[in-house]
Amino acid sequence: MDGEFENFKEQVRSTADIVEVISSYVPLKKRGQNFWGCCPFHGEKTPSFSVNPGKNMFYCFGCHEGGDIFKFIMKIENCGFMDAMKLLAGRYGIAVPEKQKTAAEIKREKQRERIYDTNATACRFYQACLLNTDYGKPALNYLAGRGIDRKIIDSFGIGYALASFSALLSNLGRRGYSPQELEAAGLAARGKSHMYDKFRNRVMIPIRDPKGHIVGFGGRVLDDSTPKYLNTAETEWFNKRRILFGMDVAYKPIRATKQAVIVEGYMDAISLHAAGIDNAVASMGTAFAQEQAKLLKRIADEVIFCYDSDSAGRRASVRAVSIAREAGLKVRIATVPDGKDPDEFVRRHGKEAFLQVLAQAKEGIDFQIDETILQGDTGNLAGKVDAVSNILPFLLECKSEIEAAEHIRRLAQRLTIDEGLIV
Ligand code: UTP
Ligand code: MN
Repeated sequence: MDGEFENFKEQVRSTADIVEVISSYVPLKKRGQNFWGCCPFHGEKTPSFSVNPGKNMFYCFGCHEGGDIFKFIMKIENCGFMDAMKLLAGRYGIAVPEKQKTAAEIKREKQRERIYDTNATACRFYQACLLNTDYGKPALNYLAGRGIDRKIIDSFGIGYALASFSALLSNLGRRGYSPQELEAAGLAARGKSHMYDKFRNRVMIPIRDPKGHIVGFGGRVLDDSTPKYLNTAETEWFNKRRILFGMDVAYKPIRATKQAVIVEGYMDAISLHAAGIDNAVASMGTAFAQEQAKLLKRIADEVIFCYDSDSAGRRASVRAVSIAREAGLKVRIATVPDGKDPDEFVRRHGKEAFLQVLAQAKEGIDFQIDETILQGDTGNLAGKVDAVSNILPFLLECKSEIEAAEHIRRLAQRLTIDEGLIV
């Protein structure tokens, strides 16, 4: 590490007031030399978490977590050291020294910018095709049939890819984007002799990163043909595990409410936003990933999964609970009645009804326990023992022993077995 960086680090450390910073996350009370509060890293009701302003350190006598202010921010924001420093520097108005970039880094950054740019231009072209051409009419009708009006089209930047192998290539070509650049963005593919447009005759849904850059597209067919969605291929620029669809629009509402609603599909997220549920994001069909959980943990305390209520959706929910809990999030599972997905439900029954569904969402671990019991046959002792052994891993994920003990007590009651058989 160079001197400038060391100076910066020390400046942040000495300027940031550890009591002030920690107080913004945990209510603290002064007692003697130290400040005390309930530890944010393990569940507790009596304060064993202490902050020592003299030493500039925190320590929890309950879970033995401790360290300096950087360690605290890294833990609570679930971020790396650099991000913790930047966060503190920002809070105290300290300028972050510009790191000297290598030539390779500069080149990569330029490539990334160009991909964003290519995608943004393609998005405008797709939108023009949807809104200003006769070819776009069927797609516009299709969207209208699904309750997607002009306002939603504009706010999400929804478009239409013509039923042509070269429309995008030639239009963007005239604007100075080479076929190779379209290929790099995943918008064109290489055939035997020609490049061709990858997305054809599909409704185009742009996928944005939290800053609003378009990183990819999901393209939906207008009928029942397959594949239903074609997505931008994953590359080093576009990794689905690191993206939540809708995060660009949902970021502020999630940060304000400390809560996110996670659905499976593009259409679910779009319909929820259209109905005024503005903290909704979609995991885009793939399994909820650790990276997505970490992204959310930075701005939210709680996530509510509202996946499809078919068996695949329920299995995905059971796994998602563990991943979100591991990232330190509170988790609940909402179930939309009569097997509908959130999109259909909210369009039919409206915002208030959906908020009711959210309010009735089950505690994540309760959902995992209920699902496991439903899967098995707990009519006999062997079945009960099986269920318990399948549930045990979920209990081990509990942050506190008190919480685990409570679940064990309830589980024993429910299966009418001795608590001693569980632990
Ligand atoms: P769904 O089949 O639930 O899609 O898949 P949906 O969003 O409800 O779509 P509609 O309502 O039928 O239009 C959930 C998500 O899985 C991904 C997409 O991200 C989709 O939104 N998926 C699904 C694909 O990537 N490809 C597919 O062929 C199907
Ligand atoms: Mn759907």
